[in-house]
Amino acid sequence: KNMTKALVTGGAGFIGSNLIEELIKTMDEIIVVDDLSMGLKSNLPDSDKITFYQESITNYDFMKELLVSKKPDYIYLLAAVASVADSVARPLETHEINQNANLFILETIRTNNLPVKKILFASSAAVYGDDPELPKQESSQIKPLTPYAIDKFATERFVVDYGQLYGLNTVCVRFFNVYGPKQNPKSPYSGVLSIISDAISQNKTFTLFGDGSQTRDFVFVGDVIQALLLLMRTPEAMHDVYNVATGKTTSLKDVIKAYENIAGKKLNVEYKDARDGDIKDSAADMTKLSNLGYKPQYDIQSGLNVYWQSLA
Ligand code: UD1
Repeated sequence: KNMTKALVTGGAGFIGSNLIEELIKTMDEIIVVDDLSMGLKSNLPDSDKITFYQESITNYDFMKELLVSKKPDYIYLLAAVASVADSVARPLETHEINQNANLFILETIRTNNLPVKKILFASSAAVYGDDPELPKQESSQIKPLTPYAIDKFATERFVVDYGQLYGLNTVCVRFFNVYGPKQNPKSPYSGVLSIISDAISQNKTFTLFGDGSQTRDFVFVGDVIQALLLLMRTPEAMHDVYNVATGKTTSLKDVIKAYENIAGKKLNVEYKDARDGDIKDSAADMTKLSNLGYKPQYDIQSGLNVYWQSLA
């Protein structure tokens, strides 16, 4: 029997490590490439199916040797510098990781005729920018406003184009506000729910930028994994881009209220002015992914509940 192999770049990160918990149920080998700049080795489940490499995807010699020798069937391109602020501070460096390294992977697959079954690239709702028309459809206006968003959008186009021009099987996702276990609260630009979780469990003060009326489509990581697996196995999901969210929005104020109820304690909040460049509201139209059978299993209440339990 042929071994089925998946490669997950950024596999020790928040979304990658949650994905791998599912992949070990069906794959024979999961190859993880992660430089541990944000991810943690301890995020990975303990399984002899996992082959871990602490490497950057910008190590081209390494990546080429890995791809050619391992010949993965499925590739999840999740490695990135996820911080928009970092991309603004050092655009050339983040461009190398967020775009060029992914292009190198595509090019290596093409020029070596590697038998990859499907490649999935993780993009971001950041590509929509601050255009106020909501909810965002995949066909809505694209207005990337930061090096991060520009790299995500350009890489989406490369990933789709490598499908159309060279026949690679590819698909892209645009993540909205993903939250859940293993999200790293390290940076002030980490996902707000990881920062709130950290604050409430450690009894720290949470700084709220704005008045709390800003809204987001918060999607629990379990639903994100459902979406990724669905897109990988669905042949019609091809050379295309899909929003990944829930289709429902919640204000930051209401999220905090819900979290306080679950945790059974008050979050200590200090208010500051809205952050430069932050958008007021974000919302996803989920028609496209829903048409493939996607149905989120977690509302904000149940998602936060699982998240809170995981911190115990
Ligand atoms: C998210 C992405 C960002 C992307 C944008 C595009 C993350 C972490 N950020 O930003 O890269 O450009 O989508 O749609 O995935 N907040 C606080 N206090 C904090 C942290 C955040 O009040 O300590 C507020 C923010 O000001 C914002 C809201 O919480 O109003 C959500 O922040 P965040 O989790 O960073 O998500 P986005 O702003 O949607």
